[in-house]
Amino acid sequence: MTNIKGKNIVLGITGSIAAYKAAEIIRVLKDRGARVFPVMTKSARHFVHPLTFQSICQEKVLLNLFEDKDESLKHISLSRLADALVIAPATANIIGKIASGIADDILTTTVLATRAPVVIAPAMNEWMYQNPLVQANIAKLKSLGYRFIGPEEGKLACGDEGRGRMSEPGAIVDFLEDVLLCKNDLKGKSFLITAGPTREPLDRVRFISNYSSGKMGFAIAKEAKERGARVILIAGPTWIEPPPGIKLYRVETANQMLEKVREHFRQVDGLIMASAVSDFRPLFVHKGKIKKEGKEKITLEFVKNPDILEEVAKIKGDKIVVGFCAETENLLEEARKKLSCKNMNLVVANDLTEEGAGFGVDTNKVTIMDAQGKLTHLPLMSKYEVAREILNHVKILF
Ligand SMILES: Cc1cc2nc3c(=O)[nH]c(=O)nc-3n(C[C@H](O)[C@H](O)[C@H](O)COP(=O)(O)O)c2cc1C
Repeated sequence: MTNIKGKNIVLGITGSIAAYKAAEIIRVLKDRGARVFPVMTKSARHFVHPLTFQSICQEKVLLNLFEDKDESLKHISLSRLADALVIAPATANIIGKIASGIADDILTTTVLATRAPVVIAPAMNEWMYQNPLVQANIAKLKSLGYRFIGPEEGKLACGDEGRGRMSEPGAIVDFLEDVLLCKNDLKGKSFLITAGPTREPLDRVRFISNYSSGKMGFAIAKEAKERGARVILIAGPTWIEPPPGIKLYRVETANQMLEKVREHFRQVDGLIMASAVSDFRPLFVHKGKIKKEGKEKITLEFVKNPDILEEVAKIKGDKIVVGFCAETENLLEEARKKLSCKNMNLVVANDLTEEGAGFGVDTNKVTIMDAQGKLTHLPLMSKYEVAREILNHVKILF
């Protein structure tokens, strides 16, 4: 049984010498029962004639946005038909265009219009691949949920040795199968996810807060939704656009967040607390603005906020609860303590001193600890990849 059987796969082929390997990708996809719709860029046609792909997959190869008078919106129908889109080989150029939101041909317009997962298999000279512009484009796309496979180390078409070879066709199709396997694996499940910081007012114009951007929680919400779950997202102040199809509640303070969590916790199968809740709030909120005149210093008194995970632990039952533990020291010890005190199923430990991890950035480096104390150390990866790993761990707990 394969996850690709009966699926519609759009295969984007771009201008690399590896374009000939797309023929093998089509063959593997067809052997596993998929319908393949090849789309070629203008440059790709310098490398392989469209007839090659057309003959293997018995589908018309799409070449031009303005080609067919009777099918002027082909890119839209294709983007909706697709269960997944694969770009293999993917040039530095197509990666840059997608990362910049350019839509100037049939492939880029289809990519922009689709809601299906997009898998990108880069192929290029090693120095092109190492170029910071290319790396920044890849990082940006990963942070938006695009999936990358490869490139691999090996002999390159230009004669150099290095990282730049497109992954093998079989590996690309296996990777795509994993993506499709995850597509609906949380169908029927519902999650309450919290994201972002909380803000605790000091007076009419000031507050205390933290550097949390909400990116981690939003990435989990998007990933859970894409995998078929019903998602309620409770977010502290953040500028991030919510993913489509989820119910979003915006809150400011820790108390407001607790209230919303209590209101919705009973209707869901799991809670994932990725928000950075202020531990303390000012004891008094001044009605107006605190004035500086006549004062050399001021002292503010703080009072403890409720601990949302501790409150949830009292009503947890058999629901799955996942918390985050962001620390600057004794990370795993603290994570272990939180896991047992707050009766969580998983804790995601986040070392804030690690470069590229924690608040604000698009990447994270975490260790996932389960209730038996088993650790999964993950390398530095995009927050979407971390979200995927967390949900993979959650899935096996149901
Ligand atoms: C012989 C040859 C091989 C090329 N191979 C690659 C490649 O492997 N990867 C890449 O990023 N660009 C490669 N290029 C450059 C691209 O073809 C060029 O950037 C083109 O504009 C890509 O267009 P597309 O992304 O629309 O297909 C190659 C160019 C030539 C002439």
